[in-house]
Amino acid sequence: MNYRHGYHAGNFADVLKHIALCELLRLLTVKDKKLFVLDTHAGAGGYDLSGNLARRTGEAEAGGIVRLAGPPRGGTPAAVARYLAAVAAYDRKFGPAGGKLRRYPGSPRLVRAALRPGDRFIACELHPGEALALKREFAGDRGVEVRQADGYKALKALLPPVERRGLVLIDPPFEAIDEYERLLRALRQGVRRFATGCYAVWYPIKDEAASAFAADLASFKPLVLKMQLEGIEPGRLAACGLAVINPPWRFEEAMRAALPWVATHLGPSVRATICTPTASTPVS
Ligand SMILES: C[S@@+](CC[C@H](N)C(=O)[O-])C[C@H]1O[C@@H](n2cnc3c(N)ncnc32)[C@H](O)[C@@H]1O
Repeated sequence: MNYRHGYHAGNFADVLKHIALCELLRLLTVKDKKLFVLDTHAGAGGYDLSGNLARRTGEAEAGGIVRLAGPPRGGTPAAVARYLAAVAAYDRKFGPAGGKLRRYPGSPRLVRAALRPGDRFIACELHPGEALALKREFAGDRGVEVRQADGYKALKALLPPVERRGLVLIDPPFEAIDEYERLLRALRQGVRRFATGCYAVWYPIKDEAASAFAADLASFKPLVLKMQLEGIEPGRLAACGLAVINPPWRFEEAMRAALPWVATHLGPSVRATICTPTASTPVS
């Protein structure tokens, strides 16, 4: 396991995934009923954009969160404004930074910020160093249960949740050759055990194996959000998707409003597409 999310924190893929995550959480916490959230591949929880890892790739700046952050702009779609507010709130915890974004929240931080007392959140991370960082990030916080554990096994063990309402984020690094297979197997088991749950699965769009994976995912009839950067140097991730199974009501509408704005503001070479089970529509 060599993958460290710190190299990629705040890049276009995180922006897409985290805008969708914040909106899913908002819509799923509107009802006065408890929610269970499982983050199967949680990462370190928060990232230093001025640190060595982020600076080495510069991904948060080139086509990433740095392009969107800053004072609120008129016309920002509501889902994007809420995501940017969550990012800014996390950054503020570390003190003033002279108007520059220094810290970026990972998925567990965004989940934690959205949950209400009584909701339940389990974050799994297998890499010992990242799991330790995640435990430190939430030290003393009883609103999160951090486990150094295999997220796929947790998915099987923890579903269905007693709450009967749940969101599962599956966001692996895709460095193992059997990752697609493991993910699909775990997802099938999860959906069999908890058919009404909402599942958000992030994946890279890069080669034939990824295309075959995306075709297999289609059997779950997800709503798929895609983002693509044109003119990216070879070897770097240029496109990704987020497949959302059982999206809550109004999620698609919110993403149709959000993604064209995001694509325009991330840079001239960014394209976004929304695919329903029956149609694929470029939105930028
Ligand atoms: C893409 S990163 C997660 C980023 C995070 N979800 C976010 O949005 O901020 C993937 C993480 O999964 C971890 N990982 C790899 N295999 C795992 C497994 N089987 N179970 C849990 N975590 C795993 C990696 O160490 C890495 O930190």
